[in-house]
Amino acid sequence: MGQLFICDHPLIQHKLTYIRDENTTTKDFRALVDEVATLMVYEITRDIPLEQVDVKTPVTTAKSNVISGRMLGLIPILRAGLGMVDGVLKLIPAAKVGHVGLYRDEETLQPVEYYVKLPKDVLERDLLVIDPMLATGGSANAAIEVLKKRGCSRIKLMCLIAAPEGVKAVQEAHPDVDIYVAALDSHLNEHGYIVPGLGDAGDRLYGTD
Ligand code: PRP
Ligand code: URA
Repeated sequence: MGQLFICDHPLIQHKLTYIRDENTTTKDFRALVDEVATLMVYEITRDIPLEQVDVKTPVTTAKSNVISGRMLGLIPILRAGLGMVDGVLKLIPAAKVGHVGLYRDEETLQPVEYYVKLPKDVLERDLLVIDPMLATGGSANAAIEVLKKRGCSRIKLMCLIAAPEGVKAVQEAHPDVDIYVAALDSHLNEHGYIVPGLGDAGDRLYGTD
C-alpha cells in the first residue's frame, strides 16, 4: 500500500490557510501555490540518495556530497498542476517536465484526457506527478495510468489538499505510489469538491470561472 505523508511544516500550513481563503486574490493565490510547492518538494526530497565526491576548496581538497541516482521528471496534470511547476523547478532546475492534460467532466466527475507530452527519457527518471487537488482521485489515477502504460515506474504524487476518497482511490489503484499532501481534508461534497478545500484550483490560479 502506498503511504500518505502530510507535510506539516509550519510555513506550509500557514501559507495553505491563505490559499484556502476565498478573499485571496488570483495574484496572491498563484504566488502562495508556487511557494508551497517549493516547500513541499524540499520536504519530500529528504530521502534522495547522495554520493561522495572530491571537491577542491580554496584551502584543500574535501570529500563532499552531491545528489546521485535518477534525475527527476515532473508531471503536472493540466491545468492546475502547472501552478506548482515553477515552485518545484526552483529547487530542482534540471528536472524535465512532462504534461498530462486532463479535465474532470462536471456531470460524471470522470477525467477526460486531452494532451500527453512526456520527456524522451521518461523511463530513466523518478517521476513526481503534481496537482493541487486530489478529490475523487480520478485525475491522479488517470495520469499515473498514462505513465505506467508507457512503462514508467517509481512514481510519487504531490498535492496540496486531498480528500480521503481520493487517497483511498489512488492507494487501491496504485499501491506502489506514495502520496504527499499539505492537508487531508474532511470529505467531498455532492459536486465532488473537497470540503473545506479551496474551491476550484484551476479557476483560482487563472482567474477563470
Ligand atoms: C481539478 C484538479 C484535479 C482534479 C481533481 O482539475 O486540478 O486535476 O480536478 O479532481 P478528481 O480527483 O476528482 O479527479 P479540473 O478537472 O478542474 O481541471 P483544470 O485543472 O483544468 O481546472
Ligand atoms: N478540483 C478542484 O479544483 N477542487 C476541488 O475541490 C475538487 C476538484
